[in-house]
Amino acid sequence: MNKLIVDAASQSYPIYIDSGLLTQTNLYRNLVQNRGVCIITNETVAPLYGSILKETLAKSGGNLNQIEIFVLPDGEQYKTLATLETIFNHLLQNQFDRNSLLVALGGGVVGDITGFAAACYQRGVDYLQIPTTLLSQVDSSVGGKTAVNHALGKNMIGAFYQPCAVMIDLDVLNTLPDREYASGLAEVIKYGAIRDAEFFCWLEANIDALNRREQSALAYAIERSCQNKAEIVNQDETETGIRALLNYGHTFAHAFEIELQYGTWLHGEAVSAGMVYAAKLSRQLCQLAEDDVERLEDLLLKAHLPTKIDASLNRDHLLHHMALDKKNQSGSRRMILLKRLGDAVVVKDVRESEIRSVF
Ligand code: NAD
Ligand code: GLY
Repeated sequence: MNKLIVDAASQSYPIYIDSGLLTQTNLYRNLVQNRGVCIITNETVAPLYGSILKETLAKSGGNLNQIEIFVLPDGEQYKTLATLETIFNHLLQNQFDRNSLLVALGGGVVGDITGFAAACYQRGVDYLQIPTTLLSQVDSSVGGKTAVNHALGKNMIGAFYQPCAVMIDLDVLNTLPDREYASGLAEVIKYGAIRDAEFFCWLEANIDALNRREQSALAYAIERSCQNKAEIVNQDETETGIRALLNYGHTFAHAFEIELQYGTWLHGEAVSAGMVYAAKLSRQLCQLAEDDVERLEDLLLKAHLPTKIDASLNRDHLLHHMALDKKNQSGSRRMILLKRLGDAVVVKDVRESEIRSVF
């Protein structure tokens, strides 16, 4: 089993990566004893893994009467304050106290909302991340960004609140649909692009094995991604500096998602195309080599990800959405760009005409 440690300013915690973690009772023993446990999951993941996990937690010394499963509807549209309230209602009605443990069993939607519920419930209870999509295993379960959406913006209500552990079971990826899997690969490739050139080369050499979901390749890619994320979070937990590099490709991606009303592309698909447009902009503004742009595009294509937007998407609308990006400061457009593969920087004062030219 691989074990990494996140050593963030507010809290240190382990990330375990292996197959079969959902049934390894010894891992959960210290986490579940003598406390109420509420597993929060959704209607897709609950029938796949809910009772397996509940059984493991009970065998680990948890009191079966104190282990509840609370099932949310599935979808980004339910990552809301209204859903959060249903979690609080359930916890209060079932007398979960301040010593309770929440367990997020699901993808990034379940992880983000459960983390935020844990941050708020009785001013903060422990929570455990058990991510079940590739995207949540390599990104959202690590680093303590928790949130729900607001009608006026995605992830607008939230908190930085770290989990007490992250359990990454490789076996749960066997049931993940292909598109969701590829969407997670986009975030894996992002780590190589922004800060790990050696990993980028490894990904180029091993993309076929990853596409086949070969376990040793997958374990390595997840571990290296989490290691990269942990190193960033350890230095900058609350995104006052280098954590912004994790947003590479995301300024474009969010604009695509808003313009497509979140209905066409999965998040990782939008990030994939966003990274290619950001690379083209990096070619102009940071002298990124043309060969590096092509290598990035080629790897994303091999991972079955989109690399361009449809000609019919309205460019003026996209530029408008990009102008509202959270990274912008006092009217200056800040973007994450690449000097070379494996080396990202924050660039200020990017002009609209420069972005327009890469469309
Ligand atoms: P998701 O949580 O919606 O999961 C995608 C789909 O896969 C869902 O239908 C889900 O039910 C299903 N699913 C999950 N695990 C499965 C499994 N093992 N087998 C079969 N189906 C399974 O999407 P996601 O891509 O995991 O996460 C996206 C969310 O994560 C967004 O809300 C985004 O804002 C958030 N996010 C947060 C961070 C962070 O740092 N907190 C980072 C990136 C993304
Ligand atoms: N997913 C971006 C971050 O965690 O900062």
